[in-house]
Amino acid sequence: MQQLRTIILAAGKGTRMKSQTPKVLHHVCGRPLIDYVLDIAGAAGSLKTCVVLGHQIEKVKEHLSSDIEIVLQAQLLGTADAVRCAQKFFTDYDGDILLLCGDTPLLRRETVRNLIQRHRKTKADVTFLTAVVEDSRGYGRVIRDENGRAIAIREENDAAGIEKTIKEINVGVYCFRSRTLFTALTKVKKNSRKGEFYLTDVIEILTAEGRRVETAATPDAAEGRGVNTRVDLAVCHAMIRQRILEDVMLSGVTIVDPSTTHIDADVKIGQDTIIRPFTVIEHDVRVGGHCVIGPFARLRPGTRIKDFVEIGNFAEISRTVIGEKTLMKHFGFLGDARVGSAVNIGAGTVTANFDGHTKSETTILDGAFIGSDSVLVAPVKVGKKAMTGAGSVVTRGQVVPDGRIVVGVPARILEKKNDK
Ligand code: UD1
Ligand code: MG
Repeated sequence: MQQLRTIILAAGKGTRMKSQTPKVLHHVCGRPLIDYVLDIAGAAGSLKTCVVLGHQIEKVKEHLSSDIEIVLQAQLLGTADAVRCAQKFFTDYDGDILLLCGDTPLLRRETVRNLIQRHRKTKADVTFLTAVVEDSRGYGRVIRDENGRAIAIREENDAAGIEKTIKEINVGVYCFRSRTLFTALTKVKKNSRKGEFYLTDVIEILTAEGRRVETAATPDAAEGRGVNTRVDLAVCHAMIRQRILEDVMLSGVTIVDPSTTHIDADVKIGQDTIIRPFTVIEHDVRVGGHCVIGPFARLRPGTRIKDFVEIGNFAEISRTVIGEKTLMKHFGFLGDARVGSAVNIGAGTVTANFDGHTKSETTILDGAFIGSDSVLVAPVKVGKKAMTGAGSVVTRGQVVPDGRIVVGVPARILEKKNDK
């Protein structure tokens, strides 16, 4: 089995995003663009990934994990130059190289896997991904000979006459034999029109040397869509969101109204849970099975909801763990809370978890009953089967003992008859 390593090109300025944030760190469905591409590399079996960065390299570096190699392309001299910058990580390497761009989150894993499979089966020197599009403006066109073999990629600016009408384009995903790639790169000349070194020139160079050039086609041209503007970002968001919703539904979750439901990329939801309309579930959230969530619920990062839980309208839950069979059927806010099982959270319950400087935890043990409009000023602990009266304010540091009731502002323990 041939080894696989990946180079991700992401040195471009992303000028059209009009942003202080590097393009590849813009989010789609709760994840930065680059993470989608890194995932594809991992899923393809890549053992090492090198990212070529330029603009705002430090910010992107901060986000990337330490096992990823990072290389600076000091000047944006084109895609061939970008790949050349990564060469130092491949000096002793003789396997395949997968080449991806950092701004194409719609690419499917299967598409890339197919491309690699084809590359290996045909023992090609390079295999690149093509798509047929209605409007090929801005893309490199695939030039084929009379036998249908791909022999070159012609960039927009250099396409002449009939070449401009070609609808088969280069998506920008390649699998190369490492040695062949770096040798060919030394032969790429600066494009006189744009003053850049085009990676795509490598195809013509390899063809001329009698090397084997193959293509793999994607039936869905939208996969290759890169993010250049905020409009593209929204288009990608809509498409990825649809994929997530379909995956969640196919895994056994009912989504009553997909058109108003937003679920981020890495959310996990158990079987037989029902998500009602206008619900937002952000990244790093887990929901168990047999739950009912929404309508109009917002589950924020760090939230863990166990089985048979009901979360109703206008509930916002953040960095909170909720145990089995707990009910929060109406509006309220839980933040930094650990809630046990079979707890009832009354309408209007608020954990005051932030004092302007620090965030504190609220603990509510099994079987507790939090009365309507209770405010729990964290840190606070409500014991097992304890109760807070409607409108009570449980003040900072207070512990409601197991089985006891507190009422009022500030909340005081109701004395039991036999306490005296
Ligand atoms: C490129 C391809 C084109 C293809 C299209 C698909 C070339 C010459 N052309 O064109 O055939 O149809 O992608 O979207 O490759 N980058 C660097 N350093 C550079 C220049 C670019 O890292 O000096 C990175 C960019 O950040 C981007 C990727 O390479 O992630 C592609 O560059 P881009 O300028 O978008 O190339 P296109 O003109 O779109
Ligand atoms: Mg581009």
